[in-house]
Amino acid sequence: MAKVKKTKKNKKVVKKNKLVHSEKTRKEKNKEIKAAPEPVVLQTLRGMKDILPEEQSFWDQVRKVSERLARDYGFSRIDTPIVEFSNLFVRSVGEGTDIVEKEMYNFITRGGDKATLRPEMTAGIARAYIQHGMQVLHKPVKLFSIGQAYRYDRPQEGRYREFHQINYDAFGELDPILDAQMIQVASRIVQNLGIKSIQVQVNSIGCPACRKEYRELLVNYLESKKQKLCQDCKRRLETNPMRVLDCKEDKCYQVAVNAPQSVDHLCEECRVHFKTLLEYLDELDLPYVINPQLVRGLDYYTKTVFEIWSGDEEGRKTALGGGGRYDNLIKTLGGEATPAIGFGLGVERLIIEMKRVQAKPYKAPRPRVFLAQLGDLAKKKSLKMFSELEKNGILVAESFGRGSLKSQLRVADWLGVEITLILGQKEALDGTVIVKNMATGVQEIVSAEKLIDIIKRKLKADSVIIYHNNGNQNGFSHVV
Ligand code: HAM
Repeated sequence: MAKVKKTKKNKKVVKKNKLVHSEKTRKEKNKEIKAAPEPVVLQTLRGMKDILPEEQSFWDQVRKVSERLARDYGFSRIDTPIVEFSNLFVRSVGEGTDIVEKEMYNFITRGGDKATLRPEMTAGIARAYIQHGMQVLHKPVKLFSIGQAYRYDRPQEGRYREFHQINYDAFGELDPILDAQMIQVASRIVQNLGIKSIQVQVNSIGCPACRKEYRELLVNYLESKKQKLCQDCKRRLETNPMRVLDCKEDKCYQVAVNAPQSVDHLCEECRVHFKTLLEYLDELDLPYVINPQLVRGLDYYTKTVFEIWSGDEEGRKTALGGGGRYDNLIKTLGGEATPAIGFGLGVERLIIEMKRVQAKPYKAPRPRVFLAQLGDLAKKKSLKMFSELEKNGILVAESFGRGSLKSQLRVADWLGVEITLILGQKEALDGTVIVKNMATGVQEIVSAEKLIDIIKRKLKADSVIIYHNNGNQNGFSHVV
């Protein structure tokens, strides 16, 4: 490379280049700083929460009770996606509702579809009913679901942005006997969870025919009281006047109690339907109150609406669930006219209430046998022995990661198992196992081949749930 002469001019160029160079690095550095990944926010989004292992026994109990009643009352399980086309909810829940106006998680997919995280489950289930031609099935078609729903609401105790619902829906039956049965199922789920003190509220909001006349009467009445209504209700008066009736603002409640009541303005068909429902409820000895202000926050309802409430000592009331008929929804969505009824229970609210009344959560069967091992060969053999015990329906705990026998026996003690199996180097070579009775401390050596029969005889058990020690004192993770 030719040597550059250090002339005055050249010196200037070098200096300038140096400047440009240092300028560049600063720019590059800035760019790097800009490109640095944002720190991860290590918390859930507002209104959403993790369901930790120690909470799961309550969730298990809710699942167990609701699945059991679903089976007993002839409901089949259905699971639909959490995301649906937005207009499914706009069309079914209703444009003027709080859910559609303010609470939906809407987004555009990469493919350009307008999508929404479901704010409730019935719209998706109705869509699935039509999409899969379920109208040809034997009626009523009873469907049960459990899963997440999303509403961008103001979070507080019992109200979240991600929450879970148990949802029961039945399609194809107009007879109010089904309404009574649905109310019964909803109350039984709540009571079987140990929440005994509940109130069932019912009302009939009529069909489009009688509601038209009622709506006019209601609007006239509300117009005359407009000055006393909250800002939201002044707006609702235009968009969804029936929602004024269940506004939680005290001044609106004062207006609502004297408003014309839908039950007084039902057409003959709706009147007889409601009357017959009440007779069925009486027949079931199911206590209820008629709440004329009960209109529900979703537009698809017709005729029967109901809610299940609980109350605490301070008089605070919580809506644990609600539902009603929606005889026009399937037709509105493009299916053939099909009457339907359903309800949803809020799982988080049920669990809050279970805890408040000290209801029992699900008690998972605990392992009665512990498998301990010592030495490399024994460790290898114990893995297979564990799976043999499991295949034979014996509930076993282990702590394979721990080396010392002493620490494994400490875990066995902590678990309170009845039998500990010890597999050491000698036993692994001999094809035997030490069976230790934890209550008496007596140990016997048995043939590994006969182990299953011996343990079965000792336990006289047929449990099939297996637990693994997850190494912390919080307990065991359910793996079956
Ligand atoms: P919903 O009354 O809007 O009805 O909701 C049912 C239950 O879900 C409520 O009673 C409450 O327990 C729970 N829930 C609602 N929003 C929240 C929230 N933000 N946080 C926690 N829990 C909540 C429906 O969703 C209808 N789809 C029910 C139905 C099914 N009707 C016919 N079939």
